[in-house]
Amino acid sequence: MEVSNVAIVTGASRGLGHALALELLRQDTQLITVARSHDTGLAAQAKESGCPLHQIQADLSDPDAAQMAADQISASLPPSAKRYLLINNAGTVEPINQAVDLIDAAATARAFNLNVTSVITLTAAFLRATHGVTDRRILNISSGAGRNPTPGWGVYCATKAALDHYTQVLNAENHGVRVASLAPGVIDTGMQELIRRSDASNFPDVERFAAMHEHSQLSSPTAVAAKILRYISQDDFGATVLDDIRNYA
Ligand SMILES: NC(=O)c1ccc[n+]([C@@H]2O[C@H](COP(=O)([O-])OP(=O)(O)OC[C@H]3O[C@@H](n4cnc5c(N)ncnc54)[C@H](OP(=O)(O)O)[C@@H]3O)[C@@H](O)[C@H]2O)c1
Repeated sequence: MEVSNVAIVTGASRGLGHALALELLRQDTQLITVARSHDTGLAAQAKESGCPLHQIQADLSDPDAAQMAADQISASLPPSAKRYLLINNAGTVEPINQAVDLIDAAATARAFNLNVTSVITLTAAFLRATHGVTDRRILNISSGAGRNPTPGWGVYCATKAALDHYTQVLNAENHGVRVASLAPGVIDTGMQELIRRSDASNFPDVERFAAMHEHSQLSSPTAVAAKILRYISQDDFGATVLDDIRNYA
């Protein structure tokens, strides 16, 4: 079967990534997903839409597993699609601690591996596997936290700042791929539940996040996913490398 669009979405089993994956399947896209868990909802949508779906189960906080996932992606990409899209969405906000309590080096390394190293590894595989293709796009899901220092989020802020800077380097290298690092706003996902469960001694801003939830000020994953997919499809996608979806209607 000839496909026009191929997409890879990491962290597609829950939250924003799941909403992005569901919508891509509705838009006639051949989809490859990466997460630790298999998702039956995605499989059902793929069946209904008649879209090929390949779910890769991998722990992207483990560099060897990320490398294996990258190799699997390279091997699964169909030739001659019109557009190839990589959405690096999987991420973690943990560990949430003040700097003095960031004493678990392994937990810090896992966050960097997931939020930064796996992105770099998957991107390299994507660039190689799609070499010569005219329409290639990479969207890295960043966070306002990468641009605004937030007490308690030393690791998360550092990883998202690294992701932003890496994306700017990728753009400067001129690989003929359009790239952006996008802050998605505050979305009603499992990550926000975890943030609201934080202890104020670790994360002093916890009450503000609880109040936003109480006043229904969080965006729905479905609405943000639809907005992001419109954003990616724009002809000038990549013109603004560091971007924020809240800048768009
Ligand atoms: N929610 C927000 O308000 C918000 C705000 C700003 C930025 N963001 C960013 O948006 C992205 C998505 O966040 P979300 O809120 O949708 O998060 P979420 O609800 O916690 O979902 C995270 C997704 O990433 C996957 N994942 C987590 N650890 C993984 C690992 N070790 N290996 C592979 N996959 C892993 C999870 O799947 P498995 O558990 O099955 O592995 C899940 O599909 C993240 O990059 C986050 O930093 C979110």
